[in-house]
Amino acid sequence: MTPMIRLGKLQLDAPFFQAGLAGYSDTAMRLVARRHGCPYCVTEALLDQFLIQGGRGLKSADLDDGDHPIAGQLMGSHPADIAAGAEILVGMGYDVIDVNLACPVKKIKKKSRGGHLMSVPDEAVAILDAVIQAVGSDVPCTVKLRRGSDDSPGALANFHRIFQATIDLGYAGAVVHGRSVEQKYLGPSNWNFLRALTDQYGGVDDFTIGGSGDVWQASDIFKMIDQTGVDFVSVARGCIGNPWVFTQARALLAGDTQTAATPPTIFQQRDVLLEHFQLSVALHGEQLASRLMRKFGIRFSRHHPRCDEVKKSFIGVMGLPAWKAVLDKFYSKDGPGVGGDAALPEEAGEAESTCPEPQSI
Ligand SMILES: Cc1cc2nc3c(=O)[nH]c(=O)nc-3n(C[C@H](O)[C@H](O)[C@H](O)COP(=O)(O)O)c2cc1C
Repeated sequence: MTPMIRLGKLQLDAPFFQAGLAGYSDTAMRLVARRHGCPYCVTEALLDQFLIQGGRGLKSADLDDGDHPIAGQLMGSHPADIAAGAEILVGMGYDVIDVNLACPVKKIKKKSRGGHLMSVPDEAVAILDAVIQAVGSDVPCTVKLRRGSDDSPGALANFHRIFQATIDLGYAGAVVHGRSVEQKYLGPSNWNFLRALTDQYGGVDDFTIGGSGDVWQASDIFKMIDQTGVDFVSVARGCIGNPWVFTQARALLAGDTQTAATPPTIFQQRDVLLEHFQLSVALHGEQLASRLMRKFGIRFSRHHPRCDEVKKSFIGVMGLPAWKAVLDKFYSKDGPGVGGDAALPEEAGEAESTCPEPQSI
């Protein structure tokens, strides 16, 4: 039976989604994910000030008709401003409003936004309250948190204060990243924390708990659900240059282990590489798209048997003709792609991840 995940009035037919990924998860990446079976996406964190001031910030939040259901993720430091940002997103047609209390980046923390708010629970709760008041009951609200600001008992107490307030205020759900803010992306995500969380709060009515951290391939989604009891799972670095993680997860749901274990063929990769580039050009123009797509190309190259050569070629791409030239050179003859552990990026499973910091915020 297909599991139904509820976020307020919204129902998802699969227990996973594409996470917010600053600098990556734009409309182009989201549409590609959806075409591979992703049931739900979150935008990268959008600064309330960008939305309030209009212009480019507002433009970057524009929605494609095919990009639903979607959560608009907000980051800010003042309740009234972030509430105003939430109203703007509701007006733009976002299906869910998600509040970011998780971003560990220093320039965000210094401004009392994102993960910084985990250490000042009164401020965090005031923001959560203002947002849900502004949004009203028609559009569900959710929150993205880290497991705490650090490993101290005080940080744990702050976490529970914020988490309980999220439930009491009527939020539809929360996604918890099992790393602390201090930890950034170093070391493993603490799935034991997620287990304890669902043991404590798992029975709460109309409240859906999501987990995040160290989900690199489709099997990790179901491992996390089994081991931690979360309702649904955020796929983050594991889906950069790998939309097939969603096809494979759908196959696992259907009990089709053979499809789930089959890596994308060279022709399937070529089609996605072209589609993603063209969507990105339509969104950003050729110059910016070329720059953005290089980092995707590097990740896509992991599925090619000549990974190192392909990666080098993508790094030099300056426009659509150059992108097509890489496809002509390496993707014009069909054959099996690379999957499983061999296709994982270097940081997967590393004790010390070298993950880049979000760039667009
Ligand atoms: C480059 C990058 C940008 C990110 N941007 C966001 C963001 O805008 N919003 C958010 O909620 N999480 C963001 N995250 C955190 C991820 O959604 C996720 O929680 C984290 O990467 C842990 O999952 P993973 O270990 O499976 O990658 C970002 C992570 C990375 C690596």
